[in-house]
Amino acid sequence: MAVTSSINLVIDEIKDFKTKPSDESLGFGQQFSDRMLLREYKDNQWQVGRIQKYSNFSLPPSAMVFHYGQEIFEGLKAFRQENGNIAIFRPDENAKRMNRSAERMVMPTLEEGYFVDTLNTLVNLERDWVPRKKGTSLYVRPTMIATEGALGVHPAGEYYYFVILSPSGSYFSEGFKPTRIKVEDEFVRAVLGGTGQAKAGGNYAGSLLAAVNAKKEGYSQVLWLDGKEKKYIEEVGAMNIAFVIDNEVVTPKLTGSILPGITRKSVIQLGNDMGIKVREETLSIDFIEESIKSGSLTEIFGIGTAASIAPVGELKYKDHLHVLNNNETGPITQRFYDELTGIQYGRIEDRHGWVHIVE
Ligand code: PLP
Ligand code: COI
Repeated sequence: MAVTSSINLVIDEIKDFKTKPSDESLGFGQQFSDRMLLREYKDNQWQVGRIQKYSNFSLPPSAMVFHYGQEIFEGLKAFRQENGNIAIFRPDENAKRMNRSAERMVMPTLEEGYFVDTLNTLVNLERDWVPRKKGTSLYVRPTMIATEGALGVHPAGEYYYFVILSPSGSYFSEGFKPTRIKVEDEFVRAVLGGTGQAKAGGNYAGSLLAAVNAKKEGYSQVLWLDGKEKKYIEEVGAMNIAFVIDNEVVTPKLTGSILPGITRKSVIQLGNDMGIKVREETLSIDFIEESIKSGSLTEIFGIGTAASIAPVGELKYKDHLHVLNNNETGPITQRFYDELTGIQYGRIEDRHGWVHIVE
């Protein structure tokens, strides 16, 4: 039997439930919860959405997502707080970014309220899937794909918007231990005027070759340089990046080809709150190397939803290998980690109203 919710959503009753993985076994994005949200766009409008059993799609081989890659997605997390509340971090920001990505990829936008309210309903139904172990969360993946079957290159007229949920541990296999990053000096991720600012699947497809090459050398991800001169720091494969120089934090300013991270935006605010200056600047790789050599650059950390605050222990550029802070998590990185996760897990007051309590 299906019931209709107050946000015009059909909710299917489901009968057989999966066995949940143990919190100890969780990696990133490998298991999926019992339910998903699916909403179709056709006849120039969004149809009534449905919360249904997590299940396969049936799409024509001509569906345009398979040919021209019209696909966008978001990533956010639901945390189990110490008082039992389930909290989603800044979903309104993801709603806004999803719409900016949709506009860039000529896809239909969603009402921000619908985005947040349906996430709330879905996560509430699946609240038992939010893991309990320290550092774990329920990763939420809203996605939009072009489903119309046609081979002419034009924006599709039909789409699916869907949301799946995945109980997750650390994004990196090394956990919160410092990660190894290679500066990519051959391939580029994005150029000005391209799609780098959008959270579009194609950006990630284009990044895989560099990532695979870096993995062969033992690096977790690549640090991208700008697409024109391969000189200025942009971001890492799945996170933004920050450097601690003279006890201040510096992160590349948003040029138009970097993904405007919600965690990055939060870190800028948290720095302000904690009395640690965070500057947004144009940073060349030469300047970064000189600062490491002179000893003024003491820590590097990645910033993102999946990655959280991720200390970088080694940075390699061409044949120069730099070890940061003795390959240990530095004090400023630790402070940002503690402050951000403190708010997310409810240990520290949510003074900016970032946390959406699921009910
Ligand atoms: N940059 C890239 C390429 C990403 O994939 C992500 C992850 O979403 C980020 C940055 C960080 O963005 P956010 O903090 O919104 O997760
Ligand atoms: C995220 O941090 O949410 C991401 O989307 C990064 C990655 C897993 C693609």
